[in-house]
Amino acid sequence: MKIARFSRVGFILAAAGSAVGLGNIWKFPYIAGEYGGGAFVLVYLITVMLIGFSVMIAELLIGYLGRSDAASSFVKISSTHKSFWLAGAIMAMAGLLIMTFYSVVIGWILNYIFVALTSLPASVDEAKSVFTQMIDSSILTQIFFHTVAFVLISAVVARGIKGGIERLNMVLMPLLFVIVGGMFLYALSLDGFSKAVDFMFMPDWSKLNSEAFVTAVGHAFFTLSLGMGALLTYAASLPKNSNLVSNTLIVVALDTGIALVAGLMLFTFLYEYGAEPSSGPGLVFISLPAVFYEMGTIGTVFAVLFFFALAFAGLTSAVSLVEPMVQIGIDKFKMSRLKSSISMGLFFYLIGIVVILSGSSEFKETLTWGGKNLFDWIDFITASIMLPLGGLMMAIFVGFVMRRSQVEAVLKPQLGRFFEIWYFSLRFIAPAALFVVALHLLGVA
Ligand code: TRP
Repeated sequence: MKIARFSRVGFILAAAGSAVGLGNIWKFPYIAGEYGGGAFVLVYLITVMLIGFSVMIAELLIGYLGRSDAASSFVKISSTHKSFWLAGAIMAMAGLLIMTFYSVVIGWILNYIFVALTSLPASVDEAKSVFTQMIDSSILTQIFFHTVAFVLISAVVARGIKGGIERLNMVLMPLLFVIVGGMFLYALSLDGFSKAVDFMFMPDWSKLNSEAFVTAVGHAFFTLSLGMGALLTYAASLPKNSNLVSNTLIVVALDTGIALVAGLMLFTFLYEYGAEPSSGPGLVFISLPAVFYEMGTIGTVFAVLFFFALAFAGLTSAVSLVEPMVQIGIDKFKMSRLKSSISMGLFFYLIGIVVILSGSSEFKETLTWGGKNLFDWIDFITASIMLPLGGLMMAIFVGFVMRRSQVEAVLKPQLGRFFEIWYFSLRFIAPAALFVVALHLLGVA
């Protein structure tokens, strides 16, 4: 297979583009809000340090050495373990499953760019009714914007790693950094900032039940784009002699940095204007627009910029969720890139429509089981189960299936005396931690 390679900066922006997504700006603040802030944030940060970091190096290594898609790379590295192909393919499918709701949320965001441009809701109650109406009854509006998202994403992926994905990230990621950075600086000048810091960094352990714990660990994987082969697939296009460790450091730092900065900014705005941090998935769609309205003119400007930034974050992540399966379609099923992009796109697009229906008042009941609708189920199964399992599989593959000498050859020069620590944490600490998560999961499900 001929692969067009990323440039060095192109890879970093694409990998950071994958990691920094709706998870950072939409999901992280609302789940942190739901589970009470500090303690949740701490579990998430510890997971990032303890598991996320070492698993990311392993995931990059598999792509870098395998130089193939998310399923074949395992077999290329260790031809005696053919069963990893299927495991890798199932792992990559998680990306399309995530896309079934991710694309829907990108659609909401595109819709909200128009809301921000035309008229922001004047109160939280009004904002609530704008959002609820979109979810409950504006099925066609949602399908329309979900379609726009599907077309945009498929068009980029169809242009390939260099001409599509790298170019998209080279433009959108710097814009995203500037917008979020600028709004954060403004938030720094407000009184609400110190309350936001308290909320995010003062742990209240009584709030940390099993469910919060599982969600925090799942979120660490989700936000770092770990455990489904997205970064693996990108790493297959790394230039020769790339430093996997420094790439990992930069991506983890950017992702964590943006999550904390975006969270602090959002909670500052909310506290400043007396809104509640715990309003669920509607947080950035309900509380925030009402707050932007209160802020006057600058608020309207912020609102438009904010939803653009959110759309950029979402799109650069979405392409990485689709690309692994597109690559498998090309390699294994000999499809053209165009055909593979359209097929994989249609998969998430069509199920995405059912996801939209599962939130509407008309079909909600039919599409809800055990208190979770289709949207919540897919989110739960992918983030809390499939991604950690994928991470576990990659940790085992690099830690136990690959020969130590194979791993050392690449990583010893890059990690130096930290190699032993990394290798130990990948083989024992990460699997043990994921095992604890699995036990908690049994309690949650
Ligand atoms: N990390 C992205 C976010 O925070 C979502 C994402 C993109 C992802 N690619 C992924 C999650 C691969 C898991 C695996 O929004």
